[in-house]
Amino acid sequence: MKIAKIMVSALIALTVVGSVEADNREMVQMPEMMQEHMLGNMRDHVLAIHEILAALSGDEMDEASAIAEERLGMSSMRLHGAGHMAKFMPKQMGAIGTSMHRAASWFARTAEEGDRLAAYDSLNQITAACVACHAGYRIR
Ligand code: HEC
Repeated sequence: MKIAKIMVSALIALTVVGSVEADNREMVQMPEMMQEHMLGNMRDHVLAIHEILAALSGDEMDEASAIAEERLGMSSMRLHGAGHMAKFMPKQMGAIGTSMHRAASWFARTAEEGDRLAAYDSLNQITAACVACHAGYRIR
């Protein structure tokens, strides 16, 4: 389990380093309004991760859970217009998006149970999806 996680992290790191050297990201075309909508979502994603970390360090487990579910989890999909945006995404990109929503809902349930270490332990499953998608795709 631990080794599998380390290997996944190493793979992601390699992909990211690779994409720093040469931009191999696939360009995804979408109308300008959708681009702005998506980037707005993204800025909230990073804010949500920050707020989750702040809640965890303050031992506010219910707060961490609620932020994850409402802003990143399965419950956030309608808010983000995920169904509408998925039409513009390559299949694999959409799948990474779905894995992020699933991981966030999983984190939300773990945090709700109140075990802080277990919650921390599942947080990187969310950020793994952020990193994987950023390594593979661009919209501008
Ligand atoms: C399904 C794909 C996908 C997932 C998942 C994803 N992103 Fe993004 N994100 C993108 C793309 C594509 C861009 C635009 C990159 C470009 O065109 O250079 C972007 C851009 C961003 C930006 C820049 C916003 C701006 O205004 O320029 C931030 C911040 C960001 N993402 C944060 C996150 C965080 C944090 C997560 C995870 C919680 C996340 N993203 C998950 C695809 C994704």
